[in-house]
Amino acid sequence: MKKIAVITSGGDAPGMNAGIRAVVRTAIFHNMEVVGIRRGYDGFIDGDFIPMDTNSVSDIIQRGGTLLKTSRSERFRTKEGMLEARRKANEAEIEGIVLIGGDGTFKGADEFSEVSGIPSMGIPGTIDNDLFGTDFTIGYDTALNTVIEAVDKIRDTATSHHRLFFVEVMGRDAGFIALNGGIGSGAEDILIPEIRTSIDDVVSRIDAGRKRNKSSFIIIVAEGDIPGGAFEIAKQVKEKYNYFETRVTVIGHMQRGGSPTCFDRILASRLGVAATEGLIAGRKNEMAGLINNQIAFTPFSKTCKQLVDPNNEALLQMARMLGS
Ligand code: F6P
Repeated sequence: MKKIAVITSGGDAPGMNAGIRAVVRTAIFHNMEVVGIRRGYDGFIDGDFIPMDTNSVSDIIQRGGTLLKTSRSERFRTKEGMLEARRKANEAEIEGIVLIGGDGTFKGADEFSEVSGIPSMGIPGTIDNDLFGTDFTIGYDTALNTVIEAVDKIRDTATSHHRLFFVEVMGRDAGFIALNGGIGSGAEDILIPEIRTSIDDVVSRIDAGRKRNKSSFIIIVAEGDIPGGAFEIAKQVKEKYNYFETRVTVIGHMQRGGSPTCFDRILASRLGVAATEGLIAGRKNEMAGLINNQIAFTPFSKTCKQLVDPNNEALLQMARMLGS
């Protein structure tokens, strides 16, 4: 193998740049050429490639976003899109690809490999932490730190005004950011889609807290908990219990940005090296992940989709005990 490509695809995540850097420098160390595919799969179809060398990844390990840009490509889901990408890859003499993204990215890569015969390896880049085959995805730790920083600030105003806050966090249909962001910020309650909580339960915990002289509350709501998210939960709670003045904050895309934490930089570096060296050694269509602090390879077809295990309510109960 003489030439590989690196691509970021799907939602960006802090640490993707550290991953790009690891892929490029590992490939160069092994005497290979590297091209960057810009704008995710859309850029792949358009042949939007740039040659990369050691200098092109200088000064990026600390930056959020992705130097290569990204997209959620509809065109790559079509046969025509894949065939066009294959044509562009063959023209550029790309013999292997390292992908940084989530389950949609890996699903696309599996299909592309069948269409093109070009092998690829992946590393998990998403703030949602929702992939099988790794204990942590790149960007998740940074997003958690963004959540706790935001909630700490909301806590100041909640306490000053004796208010009840519902804070919505990202995660799509997974509750990892809500659960662990809630524990880390000392939230009074956490609502996640995998372990449903009735509005009556939420209300009774708020009321019990008030009777213990609690004067403010933070309830973290995973965006996928119910349709309408935190606004809908707040409305339903208010219909049953209107003691506290209530506010809703949606942290939103702030969770996707910012300088990656040290944890995410190290994770992206280790996985970027493992995926690239795996590709060189002949592995294909697998994601390099970290399980029990060891590198583990999982076929793309098995990476989708990890949710908080509903049989394990212990963490949620612990959070509620500590937040009571
Ligand atoms: O998958 C990452 C994520 O940030 C989810 O948590 C969220 O539901 C989604 O992407 C938002 O997507 P978009 O940036 O396309 O609005």
